Amino acid sequence: MINDNYLKLSESYLFADIAKRVQTFKAENPKADVISLGIGDVTQPLAPAVIEALHKATDEMAIASTFRGYGPERGYDFLREAIVEHDFRSRGIDIEADEVFVSDGAKSDTGNFQELLSQDVRIALTDPVYPVYLDANIMAGREIVKLPCTQENDFVPELPSEHVDVVYLCYPNNPTGTTLTKEQLRNWVDYANRENALIFYDAAYEAYIQSKDVPHSIYEIPGAKQCTVEFHSYSKTAGFTGIRCGYTVVPKALRVPLNRLWNRRQSTKFNGTSYLAQRAAEAIYTPEGKTQIKATIAYYMRNARLMRESLTNIGFKVYGGIDAPYLWLGTPNGMSSWEFFDWMLQSAHVVCTPGVGFGSQGENFVRLTAFGTRENTEKAIHRINSKL
Ligand code: MLT
Repeated sequence: MINDNYLKLSESYLFADIAKRVQTFKAENPKADVISLGIGDVTQPLAPAVIEALHKATDEMAIASTFRGYGPERGYDFLREAIVEHDFRSRGIDIEADEVFVSDGAKSDTGNFQELLSQDVRIALTDPVYPVYLDANIMAGREIVKLPCTQENDFVPELPSEHVDVVYLCYPNNPTGTTLTKEQLRNWVDYANRENALIFYDAAYEAYIQSKDVPHSIYEIPGAKQCTVEFHSYSKTAGFTGIRCGYTVVPKALRVPLNRLWNRRQSTKFNGTSYLAQRAAEAIYTPEGKTQIKATIAYYMRNARLMRESLTNIGFKVYGGIDAPYLWLGTPNGMSSWEFFDWMLQSAHVVCTPGVGFGSQGENFVRLTAFGTRENTEKAIHRINSKL
């Protein structure tokens, strides 16, 4: 009775697996002060503007005349208008509010969007990759083409040598923390338009971009609206991992009617993101909200710089961490990802993510996040240095 495809999945989801190992270690070593630089979960509180919006929205819920029940299926106009204005028009990109679908975050949408495709489409994924894209397509029983991202190609995937129908790209990249320039992204858009393929573009870490020539949205590239669905999340942009809100852009100019079908899918299977979460998201587009979330991102990026510089000085090969909150670290002395994970946990009491959990090309790497507190980040660097 079981969908056989589920039996092809690895035993557990990567981060659930890691959490279990860490729990076991903590149970056996109750005095150990374990620092998590593993899962990309944020540590800094929500921006004051967001808290204020949440209080206000809560008060509205207490009064019959301002109470809200089910919301509009694509999300409230106030949020979709703010998104269009601040994330797109201000960058010269013409996206309309009815092309924006508010969601509970990019994980659900990047996982669910493939439901609109037929079972026999060929999917291309980078290796290493955020496991959601892979697992969701294994669940659907699809054939996957892997695009290796290695030190040799600077973690920039080459265009597939065979036809693929869909390619998932995530930039700034999770897990390697690397980015694509406009020119590199243009190659992908041209490929997709030439091959009649679709790009599913995960821009969850866009707010961490510091370099001028790195695009914040794939729609900065001409022709992208014909071939790309773009996913956004407030989880890392504004610390919404616990609030849950994001959005997906499904252009009406796509060669296939995905806007209509995604609306049909979402209105059937999803009842929307809470009014509170959407008001909270709207607040990050106010002048105070913008300044406050920028300050938090700068805090995390300082962690990234500290880790990058210190770990490089100790002799590690470190990638990423310049336009992304992730660092991709070569393991020392040819240790496997899991061996180094165990060493980090047992000797330094620091949790990282084994690179091989993101794909076979991630072997001999681990990922560190910049989302820790400053104190823990400094402590982690010090412990790694002194235990080596
Ligand atoms: C990660 O650590 O890769 C992310 O936090 C996972 C996610 O955003 O779902």
